[in-house]
Order: sequence, then structure tokens, then C-alpha cells
Amino acid sequence: MTDQDTTLENLLTETRSFQPSPEFAASSNASPELYEQAEADRLAFWAEQARRFLSWDTPFEEVLDNSGAPTARWFADGKLNATYNAVDRHVEAGNGDRVALLFEGEPGDTRTITYADLKREVSKAANTLESLGVRTGDRVAIYLPMIPEAVIAMLACARIGAPHSVVFGGFSAEALHSRILDADAKVVITADGGYRRGKPSALKPAVDEALSHDDTDVSTVLVVRRTGQDVAWTDGRDQWWHEALEGASEEHTPVPVEAEHPLYILYTSGTTGKPKGILHTTGGYLVQSAYTHWYVFDLKPETDVYWCTADVGWVTGHSYVTYGPLINGATQVLYEGTPDSPHKGRWWDIVQKYGVTILYTAPTAIRTMMKWGADIPGEYDLTSLRVLGSVGEPINPEAWIWYRRVIGGDRTPVVDTWWQTETGAIMISPLPGVTDAKPGSAQVAVPGVHVDVWNDAGQPVGPGGGGYLVINEPWPAMLRTIWGDHERFKDTYWARFPGTYFAGDGAKFDEDGDVWLLGRVDDVMNVSGHRLSTTEIESALVSHDWVAEAAVVGASDATTGQAVVAFVILRSDALEAAEAEGEKVVGELRNHVAHEIGPIAKPRSILVVSELPKTRSGKIMRRLLRDVAENRPVGDVTTLADSSVMDSISAGMQASAGD
Ligand code: WTA
Repeated sequence: MTDQDTTLENLLTETRSFQPSPEFAASSNASPELYEQAEADRLAFWAEQARRFLSWDTPFEEVLDNSGAPTARWFADGKLNATYNAVDRHVEAGNGDRVALLFEGEPGDTRTITYADLKREVSKAANTLESLGVRTGDRVAIYLPMIPEAVIAMLACARIGAPHSVVFGGFSAEALHSRILDADAKVVITADGGYRRGKPSALKPAVDEALSHDDTDVSTVLVVRRTGQDVAWTDGRDQWWHEALEGASEEHTPVPVEAEHPLYILYTSGTTGKPKGILHTTGGYLVQSAYTHWYVFDLKPETDVYWCTADVGWVTGHSYVTYGPLINGATQVLYEGTPDSPHKGRWWDIVQKYGVTILYTAPTAIRTMMKWGADIPGEYDLTSLRVLGSVGEPINPEAWIWYRRVIGGDRTPVVDTWWQTETGAIMISPLPGVTDAKPGSAQVAVPGVHVDVWNDAGQPVGPGGGGYLVINEPWPAMLRTIWGDHERFKDTYWARFPGTYFAGDGAKFDEDGDVWLLGRVDDVMNVSGHRLSTTEIESALVSHDWVAEAAVVGASDATTGQAVVAFVILRSDALEAAEAEGEKVVGELRNHVAHEIGPIAKPRSILVVSELPKTRSGKIMRRLLRDVAENRPVGDVTTLADSSVMDSISAGMQASAGD
């Protein structure tokens, strides 16, 4: 039995259950009838949500057109504008004075931005983009820290129907370059830098490096002044954001677009080296983001203070910082920095200071806080909290219980939400006030969504069975394609089980029919809730002169979920030089990966080996490397071309661990 099986047994013997309190249930947004309505007529249900959560310039007649499957079209004859829905209509409804963003910078500076302020700033930014020649359909790259301008820039793009491509500020110049090129962006919006762990960290140099290749169509770089640090300047290309916006008009009419007009591209890791540009369109995506945000978090826009800790560089920041909450008229906290700066109580200080009522974060953060100890949150008043959410990776029952008990004072519902960049919005989650919560399980598909667990042959496994998670009906927020590579879209998601969406996750149904997510079944790793591709890191390693071959695995890690462990074979000509460098080899290669992809992809450890375990057909057996990386006895080696390879790798690992 492998470690994973042991975990599985533990998971499936989880019997604790938390009923919603009668008080919560009495006033919850969700009710059991939602499931019945969705079941009775799924398309009518989604049409109702589309009318309820969004304002349409041209109402839609058609709900779903799946004749072009796997690319579905939702509400396709309707027209709307995303930013009008997220901002203007709240001002028109008399809620302009409601706070949209409570910004807390890492150094402690704050800004309060109302919906009326947001409308003004976004209009100025949209006018600026138009004056720079950005037209409906043109792409804009956004590379910013977690500051209000990140949200403003996204909404300014959406206001003119220019799809944005947000690139996480932790990605390297190389990663930024490939994303700018792939999306063919015209404008880049960035900042001089942001604050990270108490000091300014530069961003603009990465943009300069990305554009130094001189092979993009970027004509303008707008630079937000955040840290005041010195930046290199390219005249004619670079403009300060504040100067460009200064003279711009505060009036701007949002451009109504068709529901299927692209809203954004967001790159995510796949099983091959090249990141995939996931394309989301406007209508369906916004419907499901707003609908799930409303019911899963039980949002009460007049009284709640919502805080999602995700960066806008990830899909969680798109759906549950920018679009879902603002469409619902929420007041939310936006925090720039890390949880431990300047001290390990920073998050709880923020919860207390703003009276946060709904908190949405990742298991890796919860496990880190557990490690730091309950005394730290214990110093703060967290009684304002009433709903806690989790996303990004499976949450182990211990962390779930700790979250509810220590952070939620044993009163708050905890919602474990499963979804992906590709699904656009939450797909599986309990509904607070309705579902009896089970620690560690994401439980049930949200009303209107159909998921199943299938075996290898594509048959449903039923209660108690394990296999692959699939989604068997189209859903409004689903991706429409991979930007510029429709074949890859079809191959990746729709070929494993022809015509059915294959999520890439292993899953198990328990006897009650609740879903337990068991992690990726492909070469995608999940490190601190960030998606990384083993192949992409291998490519980064072999792009170094010294490296002949590389194999990367995700080894389980108590805090980060998984950690990157690499095995490399050095080139014979480089070996001598590299050996002369001694210990520096590993450091050099780790930094090289950070340079190629970003610091989040840095391997935790790199072992130099003389051979890799391969089958007779030359396929690397990562399963065996994972055994070594996780300190387990090495599994079945009979299919290896040379079965002694693993002995020397295991010995090498033990020697390096003893160093
Ligand atoms: C994993 C993040 C278990 C899963 C929104 C998925 C989860 C991948 C959960 C998508 C969860 C996300 N329980 N696993 N609640 N949420 N995952 O695209 O493996 O960054 O396929 O989207 O994260 O990661 P992505």
C-alpha cells in the first residue's frame, strides 16, 4: 500500500459532520430548493441566474448552443459589458458611496475606494487605453502587484472589450515574454515595483528584459508608481500611469460586447512545456462567477466584508477578487503583501481591523498558520468571521478542523471549493446553511453543474469508487479554447473520454456520494496551491548549458502540499567544470529555474545523477523517482531497462540527505 492509499483510507473513514446552525440556515442565501430547481430544468436555471446576476444591454434568447462542441456558446445572442456590471450599475442604483476596495499595502498604507471612485478611475484608464490605440479585441498584458490598479486595469480593459492577460508578478521576465508574445499584447501595464517581505521588490526590469527581444507588438508600457524606486526608461514607449490618466476624461461609455466576446486569457501550466492560454468569454463566465460567489460565500453585500487572499495573477483573483465580488456589489479587502510581514499575525490583524466576515484562502496558508501556532490568531478578535473558504488543493481534515476551530471559533461553516483555471468558477463545494459539512471533502457539485467519477474505461464508478473526475454537461464559465491552439484544447480536455471534460484530477465518491479530490493524475504539480508543470521545469533545467537530461517530480510536502524535486544528468563536457564548482551547481541550477519561470518553480532539491530510470522504450519512470523523493522503498522496477539505476539514485539521495 502506498502512502497515498493510506491517506485515502483515512479520508474515507472521516465521519465528522458539521450541521449548519439554525441561525445561519434561517438567513442563508442558499436553500435546498436550488438543487431541485437546477435538476428540474438545468438550462432554465442558468437562464434565471444570468438574468438575476447580470444586466444585459441586449437580452439573450438562446441559453446554450452546444452544436460546436466542445466549444459551447452560452447566452450568445445577448450583449453586455463586464465593467458596467461590476461598477457602473451599482453607482446608478445609488450605491456609489459603498466601499468596493479596502486596500492595505504591505508597509501599512491604506486606500479606501468606493464604487463611485472605481467608476471614475476605470473610466479614466479606459479612455487612456483608447487614446493609446487599444481597440475592442486587442490584448493588454497586466503585470502588477496586488494594488488597486491591478483591478482597475482589468476593468478598464473589460470596459472597452480588450481581453486582458494578467501575468502573476512572481513570474520571470522569460515567462512574461512568452505570454506577451503568445497573446500578441499591444500594451503592458506594470509598476516600478511592489512591497514584499518588508522591502520594495522591482517589477519594471522584468518588463524591460521581456521586451528587449524586440519581437513583440508592444507599443506602450504604462508604469504605476508604487515604490518610488529608480527605473530605466524607454522614451516613446514608457509612460507613467498617473501622468497618462491625469488628463483623461472621467466619462466613458462601456462598450457592449457579445456574450461570447473574449474577456481574458490566463496562462496556466499543462503537461507539456508550453503554458496554455485559457480563454474565457464574457457572459457565461460572469454569470457563474457571480452566482457561485453569492451562494458559496453567502454574500450579504450591505454588511459583509469579504477577503480573498489570492493574487489577481491567478484565476482565483480573477473570479473571486475582480469579477464575482464586484458584480455582487461586495466590499472587499485587497492586501498587497505576505502573511508574515511585518509579523506572523498580519492576516489576523487585517481581519480584526476591517471586521472581515468572509475569508477565502488556500490550504497551504492554513497549514503554515497551524505550524506557527494557534497563539498567534488567538491574540486577535476574529469574531466577525462567519464563512471560511478554501481553494487550490485538497485540504486535509486536520487543517479543515483547525481552520474552523481556531480561525472560525467553532461556529463558521467551512467551504472547500474545487475548480480550475479552465472551469472559470467554483464547480464543487458545500453550500453554507444547506450542506452538512464533512472535513476534507469538497462534497457536491454546485446546483447546475454535473460531475462524475469514471474509471479507466469511462464508466461511472458509483458510491465508494475511485477514478477520474469528469464534468459531463457544459457549464457557463467553461473555457472556450486554448488561445491559438484549438487542437491542444481538444486533445487535452476532450480526448481522454471523447466528448466529456477530463479535469486531470483523481477523485473518489464516498458512500454518501460526496466527492473527495485526490490530486492530479497527470504531470501537473500543485505547490502551495500554484500549478506547475513537471515538463516546464524539466525544459527550464535542460536549457542550462550544463544539463543533459532532467526529470522532475512533485514530492509530498507537509506544508506546501507538494514540492519540486529534480534529478539531473550533467553533460560530460560540463561535468568537470561543474564539479569544480562543487556545491554551487545545485544553487546555479535552482536560480536558473527561477530565472526561466519564477521563484515559485525553484526546486526544493536537485540531485545530480548519472542515469535516470527509463523503460525499454525510453520513458522516464517518474513514479520511482517520486518514491525516492518521498523517502519510500522504491516500487516495482521490473520494467526498467536497467534495474540497477534506482539503487544508485537511492544511495545518492541518502548521501545528500546526510550532508
Ligand atoms: C487543484 C485553482 C482539491 C486541482 C482554482 C485542480 C483542488 C487544480 C481544489 C486547479 C480543491 C483546486 N480540492 N484540489 N478544493 N481546488 N484544486 O487552475 O488539482 O490553479 O485541477 O485553479 O488545483 O488549479 P488552478
